[in-house]
Amino acid sequence: MAAGLGTRMKSELPKVLHRVAGRPMLHWVVGAARAAGAQRVVAILGHRADLVTSALDASFGAGAVEVALQPEQRGTGHAVQCALPAVKDEPDDRIVVILTGDAPMLASERIAELVDACAASPAGLALLSTVPPRPMPYGRLVRDAGGRLQRIVEHTDATPEQRQIADTNAGFYAIRLGHLRKDLTTLRADNAKGELYLTDLVAQAHARGGATAIDAPFTEVAGINDRVDLAGVEVAARKRINEAWMRSGVTMVDPASTYIDADVGPLGKDVWLGPNVALRGATSLADKVRVDIGAVLTDVKVAEGAYVKPYSIMSESTLGARAEIGPFTHCRPGTRVDEDARLGNFVETKKTHLMAGAKANHLAYLGDASIGTKANIGAGTITCNYDGVGKYKTTIEAGAFIGSDSQLVAPVTIGRDAYVGSGTTVTKDVPRGALALSRIKQVNVEGWADRFREAQAKRRKE
Ligand code: UD1
Ligand code: CA
Repeated sequence: MAAGLGTRMKSELPKVLHRVAGRPMLHWVVGAARAAGAQRVVAILGHRADLVTSALDASFGAGAVEVALQPEQRGTGHAVQCALPAVKDEPDDRIVVILTGDAPMLASERIAELVDACAASPAGLALLSTVPPRPMPYGRLVRDAGGRLQRIVEHTDATPEQRQIADTNAGFYAIRLGHLRKDLTTLRADNAKGELYLTDLVAQAHARGGATAIDAPFTEVAGINDRVDLAGVEVAARKRINEAWMRSGVTMVDPASTYIDADVGPLGKDVWLGPNVALRGATSLADKVRVDIGAVLTDVKVAEGAYVKPYSIMSESTLGARAEIGPFTHCRPGTRVDEDARLGNFVETKKTHLMAGAKANHLAYLGDASIGTKANIGAGTITCNYDGVGKYKTTIEAGAFIGSDSQLVAPVTIGRDAYVGSGTTVTKDVPRGALALSRIKQVNVEGWADRFREAQAKRRKE
């Protein structure tokens, strides 16, 4: 169920597309259903359904998640009614799991438990209950004298006595399709909200012996209604993700400030992460990679033993074995740093391939460049790759030495083992083994500085 407006988010974006650990909250729920073995997943959408559908298609493949439209939000019971046509060809004994789209922390094991409980229940209905740590406006589980589940009373409809009931409805159900088809026809909007409540199915199940309630920890079933809830769930997600990685051999100096997106991985053994590190998107780190304080890696693949020094930013890039970057290196999309290569402070790269053992240790812009093995790029080197219209390539062949403060005006090639003298503006290709130099000849005026100071001193006295 993901058709709701999410009014309390106060957002342009549909609530279920707000992200938790980098992944839209609805995708967590769909992922859990698939991991639990769901044969089909139908998303009930309403508010901005087009946007939500394209997000689902982009992540799971076009049409992999089916969509049922609920054009008007008339309650959770009505939402499920709108999904019935999607399952019209399924047999009555099929078990349907109904999940809340705004509770992303549900584990797939819990869904499997629900299905098992439903299969075992003569009433053909199981649901998750939870005891919230603080009062929440959840439905309360009302039991009969024999302790069997009698019905769920919504918070808004509950008497003060009923609000004292600790067991609440978490909003997740497994039910036999036959019962669902039949019982949904009996729903009436005779309640405080004037909605069709899915929770009224519980009263129907009482006649069949009572639904089964399984208790779940609140942190796993907590729903998100506003951005305070969102932040709370984000903390819970981060804890779950970080603990799983630490248990698999990753060291985190400060797990509370280590931000790893849900889709990051794998992370190898003896990976070391400093404080305030963020790993985003499809980033992966091989064994013994170190990522130091404040580094942000988005869609980056790092090979064994590489070292990302503090405050470096990398996006859509790769780092080879034992390579080192930083501190303060910025690798923009399309950067390939091969094994044993190094980028130092204040070096910016874009669509640049630095081959094995090549170095650019200080202050440089390297864009649209191919830099051969063991080439050395001096401080202040700039590839002039853009003339305001087109982008052009710089090729620096293996072993070349680019002196400090040089500009390489692309397209241009510096041949193998060639030298570019400091301060040179290279506009023509440099042949293999040559020296390129474009400097005004230096003039030394003997004694000039002494005479200048004397003249200044004399003027001040006057
Ligand atoms: C619901 C339950 C309540 C439970 C709580 C747990 C009902 C009547 N009540 O209340 O017992 O304690 O969840 O979080 O079910 N939705 C639709 N279409 C609609 C209405 C809702 O798709 O017409 C979706 C929402 O997008 C949301 C989910 O259903 O993902 C729950 O709806 P919401 O309005 O938040 O229900 P609650 O009032 O929280
Ligand atoms: Ca809710």
